[in-house]
Amino acid sequence: KEVEIRGWLYNKRSSGKIIFLIIRDGTGIIQGVVTDETPEAFKLSDKITQESSIVVKGIVRKEKRATGGYELSIKDIQLLSLADEYPIGKKEHGIDFLLSKRHLWVRSRIPFAVLRIRTEVISAIRDFFDNRGFILFDSPLLTPSACEGVSTLFEVPYFDKKAYLSQSGQLYVEAGCMAFGKVYCFGPTFRAEKSKTRRHLTEFWQVEPEVAFAHLEDAMVLAEQLVTYIVERVLEKKKPELEILERDITPLEKIKTPFPRITYKEALGIIQKGDVPQIDYGEDFGAPQETYLSNQFDRPVFVHHYPAKCKAFYMKRDGDLSLCADLLATEGYGEIIGGSEREDDLETLKKRIKEFDLNEKDYEWYLDLRRYGSVPHSGFGLGLERTIAWICNLSHTRETIPFPRTIDRLSP
Ligand code: 4AD
Ligand code: MG
Repeated sequence: KEVEIRGWLYNKRSSGKIIFLIIRDGTGIIQGVVTDETPEAFKLSDKITQESSIVVKGIVRKEKRATGGYELSIKDIQLLSLADEYPIGKKEHGIDFLLSKRHLWVRSRIPFAVLRIRTEVISAIRDFFDNRGFILFDSPLLTPSACEGVSTLFEVPYFDKKAYLSQSGQLYVEAGCMAFGKVYCFGPTFRAEKSKTRRHLTEFWQVEPEVAFAHLEDAMVLAEQLVTYIVERVLEKKKPELEILERDITPLEKIKTPFPRITYKEALGIIQKGDVPQIDYGEDFGAPQETYLSNQFDRPVFVHHYPAKCKAFYMKRDGDLSLCADLLATEGYGEIIGGSEREDDLETLKKRIKEFDLNEKDYEWYLDLRRYGSVPHSGFGLGLERTIAWICNLSHTRETIPFPRTIDRLSP
C-alpha cells in the first residue's frame, strides 16, 4: 500500500537511472527507490545530502534483497531541510571524534541498537520490581554526606553550604524499606572516579532494591532473578538489535539461575593459580582480577564475604568479613552488582562511622533507622551501563548511555 515516511536520509546510492535512498525514521531504516519515471523526485534525490530531513510517499513492496525485507517505490519527495556536509559516515572514525559528535553519532546504527536495548533493560527492571510489589522510592541526588567513601564525592555549592552528588541511593532506600517493606530507587548516581577504565563513568545509573527482613542470601537470590529476567527480556524482544551488534547470543542463553557463589577467599585462590596480576589478602579485586574470575564461569558469579576493610561502612559483618556480595558478569565483564546485608545495630554502626572517619552528625537520620524498630535488611545496586555493555558485548560502558560523562569528557 501507499505510505508516507517522515525521516532523514541515512545513505544514498545511485546506478544511472535508479537512485536508492536509505531512509531512517527513528524506528528503523528502509530502502527507497527513485527512477526517472518521477522526474521531480529523481532530480531532488540527486541533490539530497546525507541526514537531510525528508517526507517521502510511495508504495511498499516485499524485497528480500533490501535491508529489513521491504522496499519503497518512491513517488514523491518533500525536502524539509537540506543538511550540510555530514561529518560522520564517510570514513572510519576514531572513538574520540565520535564521542565529540555524540549528538549526531546517536543517529548511527550501533547507537541505534544499543540505546534501544537500554530502553528494554530499563523497562525490564521496572517490570521486575513492580510485578513483585516493590515500591519505587526515589532517592535525592543532592545529598549532605557520603555513601560509598569520600574519595569519589562530587562537591557542589549549595547556597551557604556544601552538597554532594549522590553516589548511591542506598541510605535512603533503607529508610524506604522500613516504611514499605520492599522498595527500589532507580536513577543517576555520580562518582568522581579518577580512573580511566572501560568500566568507569562519572555519571551512571543504578537500580537499588532494599528489602526489610532480608539477609545476604535473599539479596543474592533477588539479584540472580533480576539479571536472568533482564537477559531473557532482551533475548525475547531485542533480537534484531543484537543482530545489528553481531552479538553472539549463545553465552546469554546460558544465563540461568542459580548463579555460582564463591567466597572472597575462594576467589583469591582461583586468582593465585592464574596468570593474572596478584593481590594480597584483604585487597579488593581490580579489573584484571575480576575479568579473570568471570572468565572461569559461564554464568555470572557471586563473590561474597569480602574482608571488611575493603568494603563500605554500612555493611553488616561476620567477624572481620563483610556480609556482602559482588556479582561478576560473564565473558570477562566483571562487577555489575554490589550488595550486602546492612549493619542493623545502633552501637556497632556508630563505631563503624567513627572507624571510617565519617562525621556522625551527618548520619543522625540514618542512625534513627536503628533506633526505631531496626530489622535485618539487605539490598544491592545494579549498574545499568555495565549491565548493558555486557549484554551488548561492548568494550566500553560509555557507549551504553546517550551522553557519557567520564573524567575527560563533559560535552556534548
Ligand atoms: O558496588 P557499588 O559501589 O555499590 C553501591 O553503590 C551500593 N551502595 C549499592 C547498594 O547496595 N544499594 O556500585 C553498585 C554498582 C556496581 O556494581 C557497578 O555495576 C556500578 O554500580 N558502578 C559503576 N558503573 C559505572 N561507572 C562507575 N564509576 C561505577 N561505579 C559503580
Ligand atoms: Mg562495588
